[in-house]
Amino acid sequence: MLDNQMKATLQIRDKTVELPMHSPTLGPDVIDIRKLYAEGDVFTYDPGFTSTASCESTITYIDGDEGVLLYRGFSIDELAEKSHFLEVCYLLLYGDLPTAEQLEDFETRVTRHTMLHEQMQNFFRGFRRDAHPMAIMVGIVGAMSAFYPDSTDIADPWQREVAAIRMIAKMPTIAAWAYKYSVGQPFVYPRNDLDYSSNFLRMCFAVPAEDYEVNPILSRAMDRIMTLHADHEQNASTSTVRLAGSSGANPFACISAGIACLWGPAHGGANQACLEMLREIGTVDRIPEYIKRAKDKDDPFRLMGFGHRVYKNFDPRAKVMAQSADEVLGLLGIENNETLQVAKELERIALEDEYFVSKKLYPNVDFYSGIILEAMGFPTSMFTPIFALSRTVGWISQWKEMIADPSQKIGRPRQLYVGPARRDYVEVENR
Ligand code: CMC
Repeated sequence: MLDNQMKATLQIRDKTVELPMHSPTLGPDVIDIRKLYAEGDVFTYDPGFTSTASCESTITYIDGDEGVLLYRGFSIDELAEKSHFLEVCYLLLYGDLPTAEQLEDFETRVTRHTMLHEQMQNFFRGFRRDAHPMAIMVGIVGAMSAFYPDSTDIADPWQREVAAIRMIAKMPTIAAWAYKYSVGQPFVYPRNDLDYSSNFLRMCFAVPAEDYEVNPILSRAMDRIMTLHADHEQNASTSTVRLAGSSGANPFACISAGIACLWGPAHGGANQACLEMLREIGTVDRIPEYIKRAKDKDDPFRLMGFGHRVYKNFDPRAKVMAQSADEVLGLLGIENNETLQVAKELERIALEDEYFVSKKLYPNVDFYSGIILEAMGFPTSMFTPIFALSRTVGWISQWKEMIADPSQKIGRPRQLYVGPARRDYVEVENR
C-alpha cells in the first residue's frame, strides 16, 4: 500500500510545491503528482510514459536493468521450468499459487467454457477469406459482448469472474478458428480431455479427414510460449485495456481494444515482423547490410525483435525462448534451419556491435518465438494472435485489479497544446 512519509519539493517560479512520495515493494520511489495542477498550476509532460506510473499494481514486476520478470513475486524462469500455463493464469488472476484442489477446479471451469456460441460461426464467415487473424480476433472478441451479455455488468464480481473465465477459455478457440477460416478448413471443436495448449494445437492442425496426435514436446513448448507472454505489467496493450476499462466499458470491449493495440509492429506485431525480416535477410552473408541499415538514422528500418522500453540488459523471456527454440528444432530435426542460423548470427553480431551495445539493444521475446512457431507449422500471420491469446489472462487480471481499486478514475491525460491560439473565423470568400 502507498505510504507517503517522504516528500519531493518542486520549485515552480516563485512557488514551492511539496509532493508526497511512495515506496513500492520493488523498484524506484514514486512522486505522487495528483495534486500538482491544483497546487502548482502546471501539468507534467511525459509522452510515451517513460517516467510515469499510471496505477498501483500487485501483479507483475520488471527490473529492466537486471533482466528480472516476476509474476506475483515468482520469477519467470522458475515458472517456465516448473509450472504450466493454467497454473500461471490462476496465479495472475487470484494472486497466489493454487492448491491441488483449487487448480483442478480452475482447470475444470476453463475447460468447460472452451466452446463458442454456435452463432458466432456466422461472424467468422462474414470476414473476407484473406482477413488477418488479428482483425478477426479484434472483431470476434468485441462481439462477445453481444453473445454473452450476462457477463458484462462490471459492478457484479460474479459476472466479472465469468467474463474472465470465458475469455481465457475461448481465446484459443477464437485464434484457432481465425486460422482455420483463413486457410479454408472446417472449424475444429475443442476437446475437454486435452490440456490447454494441446487443445489449441489440435484445433489449429486437425482436420476431420484424419486423426491428429499432439506431440507432447510441441505442446510443452506452446505452453511455455503462453507462460512467457502471460503478463508484462503496464505495456501498451495492457494500458489500453485499463484505459478502455476506466470508462466502465464491458470486459469484452476492453480486451478487444487490447488486441487491437497489441497488433502494432512495435508491440506484439514484432514477432511476425521479426520472422519476415529474418526471411528477407535470408542468408548470413547479408546480415552486415541490415545491421548498417538499422544504424542509419535516415533509414526507418529497425532490427525487429531487438530493443525494449524496459529491459536494458537482457529480456529474461528471450533466454528461455532461445533454449526452447533449440529444443523444438532439434526434436523436429531442423536445427540447421536457415532462419535460425540467420537469427543466431544476427544476435551474435548485434551483441558485439558498438551501436547496439551502447544503446542497450538486446534480443527481446519476439526474436525467437517466431522461429519456434514457424517450426510448429504456424504461418507468420498467426504469431501475434498466439501472443494475444497468451496475454489475455494478463489483460484480464489487470482489468480486474483496476475495477476493484477504490482510487480508480476514468483515465484522462492532459496535453501540451502547441496549436494556434484563439483566432477569428474568416468567411470562405475572404480566405
Ligand atoms: N533497431 C535499431 N535501432 C533501435 C532499435 C532497433 N530495434 N530499437 C531502438 N533503437 C534505437 C533508436 O533508434 C533510438 O536511437 P537514438 O537514441 O539514436 O534515437 C534508441 O535505440 C532508443 O530507441 P527508442 O525508440 O527511443 O526506444 P523505445 O523504448 O521508445 O522503443 C521498442 C522500444 C521496443 C519500441 C524499440 O526498441 C523497437 O522498435 N524495437 C523493434 C520492435 C520490437 O522488437 N518490438 C517488440 C518489443 S518486446 C514485445 C512487446 O512489447 O510486444
